[in-house]
Amino acid sequence: MKAVQVRKANELVIQEIEKPGISNPTDVLFKVKRVGICGSDMHIYHGTNPLATLPRIVGHEVAGEVVEIGQEVTGIKVGDHVVIEPIRYCGDCYACRKGRQNVCEKLSVFGVHEDGGMREWCVLPEKQLHVVDADLAWEEIVLAEPYTIGAQAVWRGEVEKGDTVLIQGAGPIGICILKMAKLQGASVMITDLSEERLAFAKENGADVTVLAGSENVRHRVEEWTNGEGANVVIDAVCLPMTFELSFDVVSTAGRIVVLGFDERTAAISQLPITKKEVSVKGSRLQTNQFPKVVSLLNDGKLRQEGLVTHTFSLDDVQEAFNFVESHPEQVRKAIIIFN
Ligand SMILES: NC(=O)c1ccc[n+]([C@@H]2O[C@H](COP(=O)([O-])OP(=O)(O)OC[C@H]3O[C@@H](n4cnc5c(N)ncnc54)[C@H](O)[C@@H]3O)[C@@H](O)[C@H]2O)c1
Ligand SMILES: [Zn+2]
Ligand SMILES: [Zn+2]
Repeated sequence: MKAVQVRKANELVIQEIEKPGISNPTDVLFKVKRVGICGSDMHIYHGTNPLATLPRIVGHEVAGEVVEIGQEVTGIKVGDHVVIEPIRYCGDCYACRKGRQNVCEKLSVFGVHEDGGMREWCVLPEKQLHVVDADLAWEEIVLAEPYTIGAQAVWRGEVEKGDTVLIQGAGPIGICILKMAKLQGASVMITDLSEERLAFAKENGADVTVLAGSENVRHRVEEWTNGEGANVVIDAVCLPMTFELSFDVVSTAGRIVVLGFDERTAAISQLPITKKEVSVKGSRLQTNQFPKVVSLLNDGKLRQEGLVTHTFSLDDVQEAFNFVESHPEQVRKAIIIFN
């Protein structure tokens, strides 16, 4: 079978590898149908993801159809459509005991620390798979994983109905956060440097859009919230400057949620944190968000509505990676189709 492997930095190959089979009684064999290309796949491709060792089969946004199950599999049957939960954890460490398996000491992310899902067939334990309604289009369900990133950020920010939420950045992750925040009943302001991305955010429910760079975000937040500040600020740009801005625009008793991996320092004083008693929270991957996202998908409450802009066949995967990179203004989410 074919698999997409980053052999070394900047070298993507379609590799012929052996088709996997069931080896444990809790295993499920599925035919991969769709895989989303994510920013982190691009980093692995360029050899700039410090967590990924090469060679690596990439892909962690995966949807497929079950073809065989192990003897102890009880919740999944042949023919089911599934999405994968890309985290494997120890179950014993402090984070795992606290129910925060996404930050397990021994965390292994599918498609990052270990080979992922950009391949024709795949085997995973039942607990890493979630069944979705078979009537839903593959292009809808392949977004389950990025939606869980949005759900996690909203959960970390304790977003409640009526809260004012400022999302910085209207890239695919900002949009997933926006969708989840709106489902939670929040009022959302979103910023970006691109008018096109802001227009798309507006179509996806953003109450207010701000063109950062030409507009003053601080003033806009102040005006929008009558001087209160945003109750939750979620940084989906992830630069030192957006991190710093978060502290200026957050309300008293507010929450700041960060998702970035930038190692550069930001200049932040203690005063706004203490004075406003702000909580600053990291949000990494997700814990327990798949069931929520799957039920929202099944109920038709989460729809991609133009988030998927491009599809490519497996044989054109190199073209897909090149296109994603060279046309950021056109690509929201690109998907590889496996047949
Ligand atoms: N923590 C996690 O689990 C997790 C998961 C996925 C992605 N991420 C991170 O989330 C971030 C966003 O991911 P993405 O795929 O949407 O990236 P992206 O690059 O597509 O989107 C970022 C957006 O921010 C906009 N932007 C840049 N500077 C800005 C500014 N000063 N103010 C407002 N907007 C600005 C850009 O125009 C772009 O639209 C990345 O840093 C990524 O590493 C984190
Ligand atoms: Zn991703
Ligand atoms: Zn653990």
